[in-house]
Order: sequence, then C-alpha cells, then structure tokens
Amino acid sequence: MQYDILIHDIGELLPMEADGPAKGEEMNQLQVLKDAAVAIQDGKVAWIGKTADARNLSAKKTIHAEGNLVTPGLVEAHTHLVFGGSREKELSLKQQGVDYLEILKQGGGILSTVRATRQASHDDLLSKARFHLDRMLMHGITTVEAKSGYGLDRETELKQLEVVKELKKQHPVDLVSTFLGAHAIPTEYKDDPEKFLQSMEEMFEEIKEENLAEFVDIFTEANVFSVEASRRYLEAAIAKGFQVKIHADEIETLGGTELAVGLGAISAEHLAVTSDEGIKKLGASDTIGVILPGTSFYLGKDSYARAREMIDAGAAIAISTDFNPGSSVTENLQLIMSIAALKLNMSPAEIWHAVTVNAAYAINRGEEAGSIAIGRKADIVIWDAPNHLYIPYHYGVNHVNTVLKNGEIRYR
Ligand code: NIG
Ligand code: FE
Repeated sequence: MQYDILIHDIGELLPMEADGPAKGEEMNQLQVLKDAAVAIQDGKVAWIGKTADARNLSAKKTIHAEGNLVTPGLVEAHTHLVFGGSREKELSLKQQGVDYLEILKQGGGILSTVRATRQASHDDLLSKARFHLDRMLMHGITTVEAKSGYGLDRETELKQLEVVKELKKQHPVDLVSTFLGAHAIPTEYKDDPEKFLQSMEEMFEEIKEENLAEFVDIFTEANVFSVEASRRYLEAAIAKGFQVKIHADEIETLGGTELAVGLGAISAEHLAVTSDEGIKKLGASDTIGVILPGTSFYLGKDSYARAREMIDAGAAIAISTDFNPGSSVTENLQLIMSIAALKLNMSPAEIWHAVTVNAAYAINRGEEAGSIAIGRKADIVIWDAPNHLYIPYHYGVNHVNTVLKNGEIRYR
C-alpha cells in the first residue's frame, strides 16, 4: 500500500478526537501524541501512529515535521466575512471616546458597511471575501462560518449569501453560511424595528429553499433588537427548520444568553457581559458559548467574557475572531488564542478545544471538522512551533508552516 502523503517526525500531535463538544473540565483534558506520524490517502486521514512505526510505510510524498506541532485545521465559528468597504476612519472616533453603539446610532458603524455593501457588485464582494478567506487559510483555518447582515434588505442580503455559495465552489476552505439579516435596524426602518424584522422573516422560506444558509442569527442588543423581538424572530426561524444563533450580551446585559439556552440555540456568541444566571444556564445546557475576546479588546472594553466561570459551570466554549470591519478587524485566530489565554484565563488545552472540536460543533460540523481521525478529511496544520503551549504564548504572528486541506497542501 502506498499512501499519498506521510507526515512524520511530529513532536506533538493533537488528534482532538471527540464524540461531542468538550464541556466543562473535559476542555482541559488534552490528548497529546508524541513522536507521531500521520498518513493520508484520497484526502482523508488513513493512518495515525508513531514515527518509529511509520518507517516501513511507503508514500508518494513525505513531509518531515522536524519535531514540531501538528494539529487539526482551525475552525472559525463566527465571522462577518462578506462586506464592502472598510472603517479605518472610526478608529479616531473611538480614540475620542465615542462608543460603538453611539457610532451606530449616528448612522455609522454597521450602517456605514451596509451602505458600502449595497453599492458593491457581487464580483467585488466575492474577490474581497476571497482575499480575507485566503488570509484565514494562511493562518491555519480550514473551516469558516460566514454571516450575512450588511445588506439589511432582501437584495443585498441575498447578494452576500450568494457570494458565500459561490466561494463554497471556488475555495478550498469549507464555508458554513448564516443569515444575519437582523444585524441592525436600517435607516429606512428606523422607527419600526418590528416591521423590519418582519421583512427579514419573509426571506426565511426562500433562503431555506435555495439552501443559502443553515443558521439564523440576530444581534440582541440595547437599541438594536430586544429579547422579546429576538425570541419571536428566532421562533419563526426554528419553525422554518433553521438552527439558531444569537449575538448575545455583547455590550449590554440583556439576557440574550438565557434566550439562546431557552430556545435550544446551537450557540450563544460574544457573552462579554452575560449575567450570573446566564452563565449558570449556559453551563447546564447544550448551547455552545462562542467567545470573541478580540472584540472586547478591539472595542477597548474592560469586560471580557467570564470564560472561567462558564467552564466551571460545565459549558462548552469555542473561541473565534468575529472577523468584521468594525469590532474585530483580524483574520488571525492565533492572536485570539493569545488574548483568550491572557484575558479569559483559559488554559492552552481549553483554547485548543475552543478552536477545533468545540468550534466545529458550534457550526454543526463536529462530525467532519476539528479533529484528526481515521476516515476524516485530512485538514491538518503543521506549525513552526515545538508544542501546543507555544501558539498562545508567542503572540501576534503567524506560526503556520503548512496547511493541508482535504489532504492537499494549500499553503506552505
Ligand atoms: O459581532 N455586534 C454586531 N456585529 C458585529 C460587528 C459588526 C460591525 O461592527 O460591522 C460583532 O461585533
Ligand atoms: Fe459578530
């Protein structure tokens, strides 16, 4: 038998095998295989063992990992990948102390990206999103969730969702699509948010039929959508067969986390200011907490999600970039891993679970992404790092040596 690729002399291999998301203290239990080797056949993982036992295996191509770390491709569970324009001018407003929701209230922030996205053509949005997706791949990410939400009208929301559909065909990274039509109240509905939500709800059927999104998400926030309006909207989405997500308790404590748990949402995301009650409920539920500490950092907030308490309460936590042009402008999930270590006090073992298996389960890809296991797609990263502790430790740069997606070298 001749394998397609053999990766050997792996100093540390993290298989991250699991039959569900790691919850609570399971997040701190990391399986580390030393002196390991992995063989790939037809795009899938075909053999895992010791380098010493790999000596008599034959392969068309051999990659020497030089004693370094090898992990599953990272999974990015929360991004706003497709948008027009950029918002670098808001940085100086932030420095003057104008806060994020105030900028939005003045028609800037999300609404300024909405204007740029409405003006952009499908092709412009496609090439821009592809550029960011390439950069994510370079940083070791092989599966990405992408939200719409910069259209806030039927035509532009569909344009964003179509871009993701097209990228699924063109790009090696696996994409998972979320409809976030309820991301802000557009100027034309300023005085009637309910009517706006109704107009987004009217798109559910079409989105389902055209298979344009798997999840429906909403920004449950002060001056945006209330808990009650969010509940009605998400119940309608569930009735149409969608799984739901919530941008919950990002800036003000409204109870979006409790709502997510109550609705059986697949994930509650942000959680920077979740209440004690919300933490308790999350810990006792199957809803995955997707924490975005880069956003707290980038918005200059003092309050970071209380990840330690959430994990102690038994929650499954994922972490993600929240990549978007306003509140977290980075494609580098490795940087977010460092912020998670320093600001959330998560251990390296917890962080690795949070960017692999748990992130995969948060977007319903737990069975196919986020681990290195026989028979699974060979989505694998070889790092320029001796061990798994090293990535959160050495911050702000890209440690990727090689990315394999479906067993093919896509970045080296
Ligand atoms: O996840 N909070 C709402 N949405 C994004 C920010 C979007 C933007 O500022 O463009 C977030 O932080
Ligand atoms: Fe977000």
